[in-house]
Amino acid sequence: MKSMISLCIGLIKRIFILNSLSIIRPDDWHVHFRDHEALHYTVPATAMHFGRALVMPNLQPALTTISVVNAYYERILNALDKTVSFLPYMTLYLNENVLPDDLHHLRQYPHILGAKLYPAGATTNSNEGVHSIKKLYPLLEIMQTHDLVLQIHGEVTHGDIFDREARFIEEFLVPLTHDFPKLRIILEHISTQAAVEFVLQAPTTVAATITPHHLFYNRNQLLAGGLRPHYYCLPILKREHDQRALQQAAVSGNPKFFAGTDSAPHAKKLKENACGCAGIYSAPYALAMYAQLFDELDKIKQLNHFMSVFGAEFYHLSPNQDRIELIKKEQLIPTSLPFVNDDIIPIAAGTTLQWSIHEST
Ligand code: NCD
Ligand code: ZN
Repeated sequence: MKSMISLCIGLIKRIFILNSLSIIRPDDWHVHFRDHEALHYTVPATAMHFGRALVMPNLQPALTTISVVNAYYERILNALDKTVSFLPYMTLYLNENVLPDDLHHLRQYPHILGAKLYPAGATTNSNEGVHSIKKLYPLLEIMQTHDLVLQIHGEVTHGDIFDREARFIEEFLVPLTHDFPKLRIILEHISTQAAVEFVLQAPTTVAATITPHHLFYNRNQLLAGGLRPHYYCLPILKREHDQRALQQAAVSGNPKFFAGTDSAPHAKKLKENACGCAGIYSAPYALAMYAQLFDELDKIKQLNHFMSVFGAEFYHLSPNQDRIELIKKEQLIPTSLPFVNDDIIPIAAGTTLQWSIHEST
């Protein structure tokens, strides 16, 4: 009798609770693949779930010309299993030395979607970044003319680290959107309520990517009860109210917000270090984490557009043709993964996620 009752409860749960979900294959609009040997780890990890990804150009030396971006693009393609259908997209590393001619010709390379602005010193490998946004204005003019997308790491390099995103918006982004009303801009990996509010009131030329870690965590996970270097990234995790604002933006169904994991691998020894590197490695688990978050907020139906439609639309691309199946089934994130000659500690290492990915045929 008892077992009959539990069987019935199980059946009712199966009927009324969503246990699986099919979405259009998603894209990752912000990822770091690194280079050379690392590509054999990072490229397959992203290609496993994502149909396309926008690969960041912060190598050393930085990828500031079309020819070095194209050489890197080839190295990425070479690291890809030919049976997997995955398309990398590229962006040029923007600084005062970028040649105007390269921007004039960028449209001839449909796999290069725009250029990325890093304020000099703001994050990992940003030493070749921009010192004066005003000096970039002639290049931004060209980008606006050719309708190229400007991706921005939106943090100033002075003042309190928790205020750097909000200050960048006030000091640089507000003037920039006034001076270039037609320039399409993506404020990458937003981390604050201030950024959400800015994007909401900005013109439709402005959008933002949101990472799984800024949705899942706040600065307590990084700092309370011990310093956890694997939760250290830039922009740094902020306050709980910022996390909540990001969650609301992500599930809102507003096309200005879409997925960009900012999966940024650093070997374990570079993270567990007296001066640990900024960056969280999430590629293999990002999709399941986004799904769990949307499910917890009772907004799983919005996941498809956030993961697979809004970003493509912003980049004037069609959504992917195929689909991917998500199942509400637990998966344990390993405590460590192999990475080049070291290990890497993935996001949420050693914890259990509520969702898993099942490839549909
Ligand atoms: C990124 C990296 O390691 O390249 N680090 C990070 O903390 N997000 C750079 C970046 O996107 O800021
Ligand atoms: Zn990044």
